[in-house]
Amino acid sequence: MPKRPPTASIVSTGRFAPENVVTNADLAARVDTSDEWIRSRTGIRERRIAAEDQSTAEMAAFAATRALDQAGLDVKDIDLLLVSTATPDRLLPSTACDVQALLGASNAGAYDFATACSGFPYGLAMAEGHIAARQAETVLVVCAEKMSSIIDWMDRGTCVLFGDGAGAAVVRPATDERGILSTFTKSDGTLAELLYRPAGGARIPIDIAVLDERSQYVKMAGPEVFKSAVRAMCDAAEQGLRRAGVTAEEIDLLVPHQANIRIIEATARYAGIPMEKVFINVDRYGNMSSASLPVALDEAREQGLLKEGSLALLVAFGAGFTWGSTVVRL
Ligand code: UT7
Repeated sequence: MPKRPPTASIVSTGRFAPENVVTNADLAARVDTSDEWIRSRTGIRERRIAAEDQSTAEMAAFAATRALDQAGLDVKDIDLLLVSTATPDRLLPSTACDVQALLGASNAGAYDFATACSGFPYGLAMAEGHIAARQAETVLVVCAEKMSSIIDWMDRGTCVLFGDGAGAAVVRPATDERGILSTFTKSDGTLAELLYRPAGGARIPIDIAVLDERSQYVKMAGPEVFKSAVRAMCDAAEQGLRRAGVTAEEIDLLVPHQANIRIIEATARYAGIPMEKVFINVDRYGNMSSASLPVALDEAREQGLLKEGSLALLVAFGAGFTWGSTVVRL
């Protein structure tokens, strides 16, 4: 892929995390697990869980509003609203249309996309494409996930891993100072059934048998997914750097998908980026699927770890399998 001048840039970010904190000890009271097991295998200490009546669209709208405020933009400035979610509030219409209605973004086109935990790099690539094609000038990319609604709270192999939340970014044309230097997206659909929800879609609608088998919930082959995640995150980091034409030493901060501290450490090691330059919040939020990356990016900016002119490498992996990366000058 030839190096080319940036066409789009991230001008602001925002996030939303539900108030309710669920600790490892809380989970140990519900399933056969322990704080020690969860912390040592994943790095997670606690996660946020949305109220039952809190929708994915509401969380998305909160994060979006913060990103718009930070950019000093009006909601009517949004030309396009892209929503990444594995937990749409309804199957029809899209959650993006609900977010548009909640925000009052009446000048925007809106659609959902489903690339699971890799949503942010995919969303940035789409935003960049729309801007490059001059179909849009201001694109809002929102990643919002109510994972608590699709995980099996009786399955200790998955319920300890996930959390709820939303992150957003406003993407506009690049300037001389800032821009997206590379985007990389890749998938391998042959491995879909290592991490999936077997039922609840058109192929296997929900019926009594589905409810008995609990197959409307996320199923995951943990160790197999772990190995693929390490491979894919390393590939994404390498591709991102190569396509941007920058070295690991030039990266100010690696902001990886927050699924498991061991996956993050392996990725950083492979990419040649020391852990002091890696942003981590998996301990406080668990895996918020696609929301993890924009929430982490927003926190890193708020903490001053990324300033104007900083170079960030964003890397993600998720169900599909999908993986991707973005190298961005902020
Ligand atoms: O967002 C992208 C997608 N997701 C991921 O990237 C997740 C990838 N996978 C992982 O992070 C790890 O595979 C897990 C954290 C899910 C599991 O860690 P592991 O080191 O691969 O453990 P394991 O699945 O091999 O299980 C080891 C043992 C098993 O017991 P036995 O068979 O050795 O007796 C499990 O039954 O740990 C047991 N186990 C648990 N024990 C206590 C599994 N889950 C738990 C639990 N608490 N929550």
